[in-house]
Amino acid sequence: MIGFIIKKIIGSRNDRELRRMRPMVARINEIEASYQALSEEELREKTAAWKARLTAITDYEELNAALKELMPEAFAAVKNACRRLVGRDITVRGHPLRWEMIPFDVQLLGGMALHLGKIAEMATGEGKTLVATMPVYLNALTGRGVHIVTVNDYLAARDSEWMGAVYRLLGLTVGCILHDQSPAIRRQQYACDITYGTNAEFGFDYLRDNGMASTREEQVQRGHYFAIVDEVDSILIDEARTPLIISGPSVVSVDNQYGKFKGQVEALVRAQERLCGRFLDDAEAILKQKSTPAESGTSEAAPSDQDLGILLYRVKLGMPRSERLLRLLEEPENIRRMQKAEMELHLDQSKKLLYAEKEELFFAIEEKSHDADMTEKGRTFLSPQDPEAFVLPDLTVMFHEIDTGPEPDVRKRMEQKARIQAEFEAKAQQIHCISQLLKAYCLYQKDVQYVVQDNKVIIVDENTGRLMTGRRWSDGLHQAVEAKEGVQIERETQTLATITIQNYFRLYHKLAGMTGTAETEAQEFLDIYKLGVLVIPTNKPVRRDDANDSVYKTRREKYDAVLREIQEIHSQGRPILVGTISVEVSEHLARMLKRVGIVHSVLNAKYHQQEAEIITRAGQRGGLTIATNMAGRGTDIKLGPGVPELGGLHVIGTERHEARRIDRQLRGRCARQGDPGSSHFFISLEDDLMRLFGSDRIVKVMERVGLEEGQELEHPLLNRSIQQAQKRVEQHNFQIRKRTLEYDDVMNKQREVVYGFRNKIIQGEDVRDRLMDIMEEVVVQKVEELTGRDDDPSVWNLRPLADWVNLTFPLGVQEADLLKVASGGTEAPVAGSLFAGLSPAQFAVCQHISDKVRHAYELKISFEQAESLEAVERYTILSAIDRLWQEHLYGMDSLRNSIGLRAYGQRDPLIEYKAEAFKVFEDLMVNIKTEICHNIFRSASSLMAFERFLHNLPQRTVHQSTSAFGQPGAQPGRGQSSDIVSEAAAALDKSKPVRSGPKVGRNDPCPCGSGKKYKQCCGR
Ligand SMILES: Nc1ncnc2c1ncn2[C@@H]1O[C@H](COP(=O)(O)OP(=O)(O)OP(=O)(O)O)[C@@H](O)[C@H]1O
Ligand SMILES: [Mg+2]
Repeated sequence: MIGFIIKKIIGSRNDRELRRMRPMVARINEIEASYQALSEEELREKTAAWKARLTAITDYEELNAALKELMPEAFAAVKNACRRLVGRDITVRGHPLRWEMIPFDVQLLGGMALHLGKIAEMATGEGKTLVATMPVYLNALTGRGVHIVTVNDYLAARDSEWMGAVYRLLGLTVGCILHDQSPAIRRQQYACDITYGTNAEFGFDYLRDNGMASTREEQVQRGHYFAIVDEVDSILIDEARTPLIISGPSVVSVDNQYGKFKGQVEALVRAQERLCGRFLDDAEAILKQKSTPAESGTSEAAPSDQDLGILLYRVKLGMPRSERLLRLLEEPENIRRMQKAEMELHLDQSKKLLYAEKEELFFAIEEKSHDADMTEKGRTFLSPQDPEAFVLPDLTVMFHEIDTGPEPDVRKRMEQKARIQAEFEAKAQQIHCISQLLKAYCLYQKDVQYVVQDNKVIIVDENTGRLMTGRRWSDGLHQAVEAKEGVQIERETQTLATITIQNYFRLYHKLAGMTGTAETEAQEFLDIYKLGVLVIPTNKPVRRDDANDSVYKTRREKYDAVLREIQEIHSQGRPILVGTISVEVSEHLARMLKRVGIVHSVLNAKYHQQEAEIITRAGQRGGLTIATNMAGRGTDIKLGPGVPELGGLHVIGTERHEARRIDRQLRGRCARQGDPGSSHFFISLEDDLMRLFGSDRIVKVMERVGLEEGQELEHPLLNRSIQQAQKRVEQHNFQIRKRTLEYDDVMNKQREVVYGFRNKIIQGEDVRDRLMDIMEEVVVQKVEELTGRDDDPSVWNLRPLADWVNLTFPLGVQEADLLKVASGGTEAPVAGSLFAGLSPAQFAVCQHISDKVRHAYELKISFEQAESLEAVERYTILSAIDRLWQEHLYGMDSLRNSIGLRAYGQRDPLIEYKAEAFKVFEDLMVNIKTEICHNIFRSASSLMAFERFLHNLPQRTVHQSTSAFGQPGAQPGRGQSSDIVSEAAAALDKSKPVRSGPKVGRNDPCPCGSGKKYKQCCGR
């Protein structure tokens, strides 16, 4: 009821908004009528004039006002261009397509909504592709580049070719980013007024531009002004669960253990199968006993339902996809028994019973959370002599034992600890590897989650059914699956750059989206992207006939029913599109059809090359297409002659998807633009959705009705139960997305800082000034850290500072010199300057060192060629940023994982994560700057320049014992000097990183927000 009222209110607000926009529609149509008298040339001239005017405006507010004013004329120009195109053939994906579109009034409304930065919800088939052209054209006149984001490469190419006709007629350029393009080609595409591409391509280009390119020429994008996201719910909601990651081979190479453990894990899986087989034997025996009434005289107690329930539950934990288990669970009574047993186990607070059940198995599989856990029994199976081989020791206890143990020598104790630590890590690695292999064997299915092609394991996207070439599961899972399939095991990879989809799209100055299915996620769009949804009415009423879902007990019965329906409708000549959830099911159905001799096409990840071809045929008389979600969103199936009279396209769904939106998208392939059409979904209780998220209610209904073999169940109430199951999954996924985003917000801020820093170096002219600034900052930090607060320098120990200076710069300063300078310092630094807070003595030392470094650097410059030195400077800075940033990403990953594992009492792990992330980021920035200082004197544009520079260092400045730069006049000794350099670097690495930012007193509250004193918390 409340929902109804809310809908009423929202509905009317929507209506009000539309009503306000209506007069503009009339205005556009009026202008368009006047354009009909123009020649094509005259129309094109308008574009040039408008563009010249808008590109000259630099102020955003002014620009927005100008766009607002120009909107009706620009939209009219597009509409007029469409009119001129009518009847022309446009080649789209290799097939001629006759242009027949002039925007309807509702399409003009949709276009306005997009221009206003909203999500236009327009039903499937209403012509959103065309709608986008109007706001795209208008905003492209600013010369800032407009991006149109599609869900896959096929649509990006299709739309850029199809709509390209309009833009070109008007005199704008159109580009398209595709997966296999080179950077040079990409740059050309981005340089166009309008660029089509998928979210992944746009996002990866951003990461490459900002995280990897080392010169401006290598960057391909030119800013983020306006993006229109097609199928916005898919991209901003479904895709947002997994961040975009660019990875490279890991620098820390772990030797390949997956191949090594493969055999053992296979044996373990087989043992578990046998074990579960025995449990099932027992369960069947009990069932048999139950069905034959006990004969009088037998004293044995009848086996209880509970025993049976427990046996079934064990198998569910051990082999959730076992065929025999699924068959037993076809009986609703058995599902109930199992669920009851499970509930009782979970009721026990101590979890002892549950634990004991798991221990009956070799390992336990948690299907919902995708976890695999080895038990004692499993460990003993793998390593009979030493089951402890796969148990992680408690490091803190062991360290404590060493600390309090008999060993007097500190160094020896350190060695012992290091050894234990190393053993711990090796063991942890093994355990991880086995657990990933178990997942690969028990949870990942070929032709469902992945396919094997050309000796490679390729992930199939669950939402789009497309191959995700080049993407890999993280954390060793991909290697585990490769080991399972016996293909080449690739090296472990490490994250080089990463961003979530959400954060990529937040980069745009202006964002808009369109889809047929936004309503369920309206709140999320508003919260996260500040995107409001405007529902646009359809041009003609929708004529699709959606049948109730048909539910069957088993998959087999379901497919039989699907086949019957196909045969019936196919015989009438009506085209049919059959949607499947995986490659495997599409091939299964194809085999069934082949057996009965029905001609059909299959569209799945394996046949994606023929996509355009298959789609063109799908709506013709007698057409029959079996497709995964590849033929979902955005696919436009045109009806052949005579087909509307037969009833249009019929869509069959063979399973319900996790998200309702995906099902609606499949339905939306028919009954487009007011055409006739119908849809029908088939479901079985064995489907994953029903197994994992289905409710008791369905089981109860099934039981009451007492389904016979092959009988179907169909009722509107049942639809609701199924939707309920889908809602549960959607909720679950929403939580995951929110979590991902909350964590990524932390990373996002860090990324902004680092990419900002990086970009200044790439684009700035004054790299050398930046370099000297960095040097100065580091010097200040070091002086502060190493000289102590004491005002009287005579009590300072200047040795560490002198060592640091000499290891970092080729100066050879003496302790005595530093002391003299410090003692002579009288001037206090200016408040607010970099030096603020230093004592006069510290200030004097800083200035002294900085001046010397500057001089030394000038000397170095004098031996270099100016042009190449600039490149060297840039390279030195970038490589320090990149190396440490990538290490940092790796560290942040582990931090995130470990935070999840740590117990924090009542505290929120996210807060802990933020506090720690802040600390490590501060360290990172300091470390980057230190490394830059360290490397800048060690790099040169040529060896000769370097040697000449070394030779010319003033004799007395080289301090023998600590200089990392070799002696002047000594033989070049590259090997020798680089040895010293690396030694020095190692020494520096060992020294602990310094912190920048406000200093925290030991008695101050800890900055992590714990509420404790710093010395009792992070400062311990
Ligand atoms: N103004 C128009 N006049 C005639 N036909 C049109 C018009 N606009 C769109 N169409 C036709 O409608 C069909 C669907 O268009 P399109 O694929 O752009 O729809 P969509 O809204 O993007 O659908 P989906 O939600 O499935 O992506 C196309 O065949 C197109 O030719
Ligand atoms: Mg579309």
